[in-house]
Amino acid sequence: MAFGGFIGDAMNLKGITWLLLLCLSLCSSYGLEEEEDMELERQLKLINKTPLKTIQTENGDVIDCIDIHKQLAFDHPLLKNHKIQMRPSFPLKGVTNEASSMANPIRVGLKGKGCPTRTVPIRRTRKEDLLRSKTFASIHPNTREVPGSHFATLETLKPTNDPDSVLHGAKAHINVYNPRVAADQTSTGQMWVENGPFINSIQAGWIVSPPLYGDHSTRLFTAWTADGYHRTGCWNTLCPGFVQVDKKVYLGEAFSKTSVYNGDQYEMIFHIYQDLVTGNWWFVCTPDNIHVGYWPKSIFTDLAKGASMVSWGGRTSGALEATSAEMGSGKLPDGQYHHACFFRQIQFVNASYALQDPDEDRTREIIDKPDCYDLKYYGDQGGEMGHTFLFGGPGGNCGS
Ligand SMILES: *[C@@H]1O[C@H](CO)[C@@H](O)[C@H](O)[C@H]1NC(C)=O
Repeated sequence: MAFGGFIGDAMNLKGITWLLLLCLSLCSSYGLEEEEDMELERQLKLINKTPLKTIQTENGDVIDCIDIHKQLAFDHPLLKNHKIQMRPSFPLKGVTNEASSMANPIRVGLKGKGCPTRTVPIRRTRKEDLLRSKTFASIHPNTREVPGSHFATLETLKPTNDPDSVLHGAKAHINVYNPRVAADQTSTGQMWVENGPFINSIQAGWIVSPPLYGDHSTRLFTAWTADGYHRTGCWNTLCPGFVQVDKKVYLGEAFSKTSVYNGDQYEMIFHIYQDLVTGNWWFVCTPDNIHVGYWPKSIFTDLAKGASMVSWGGRTSGALEATSAEMGSGKLPDGQYHHACFFRQIQFVNASYALQDPDEDRTREIIDKPDCYDLKYYGDQGGEMGHTFLFGGPGGNCGS
């Protein structure tokens, strides 16, 4: 009998050892998988709070309306006794949101009235999102040190070297594109507000990131960290921190329209600024001045006092050996605002909490692979354009 023979053969020491090893590896890997699964489920339970209403968007996102006091933000150990700030103490001075003949403004947010009163919209995290973000989170969302990540940014330093002088935010109109990226690559058009030796950073803009979202849509994103992404921070509302207060605009929304090279142009308009009274950092989507929510002052160290630097531009990341993703429109700046991706009306928030134009002598371009990606700053172009630059490029064999 085949079976008997097999068992008989196995009844020598070698066979028993082999069987034992086989069982050990099978049994333990089965156990691990189950354990991992349970761990994922446990984390999902923590992240996704019980919704009072659920909205399915046209692009397939599941949006949960969560009791504003029970949102994930308040699981942050430093926000145990946090008092929610529903609106800014003062509106930011100097906001114009000038319309432009250049591009159509993109309006974000749920249709109609959004979530019911006293609830806030949070994009539901699925198991596959968590699995992807696990591998992705280990790749810092936005440090310059990560191999395989490339930058074309314009950086502005604070107006004086006085150690007490700080910035309180920044504004931009960003042309929105849908650059081509591979399944493991990410490409952004964004703004950074940063401070400190331990890198406190707040970021927002648009992103194409299959690793983060599982698709190739261009989406609204934010990110933060209080320690250079070692232990704190995350994208959007994937971890405790960002306090959502608006009922309609949620983080991670996919844009229904993006710009076409030499064709119709779309832009997103937003600003990030520090509240004069509470020190919290607001995220505001315009042209309708929607105060989406804020990063509480208490989750930061250096940014609690203000920012030392603001930058605007693009970043790509992905595996080292692969050809790099497109950035912006996928085209290098050629002086034409409907060719490469543009920024217009870039401004920072100064010590008197008012928007101010960058000082050209205190800005610098950071371009790590000029053959792959470039940035051209044109200074003040006046009128609806204000301070502008073009950035982006086709990527390709950029090396590390
Ligand atoms: C901030 O900017 C406003 C408007 O640009 C300006 O009037 C004000 O003097 C600036 N404040 C400081 C401290 O530079």
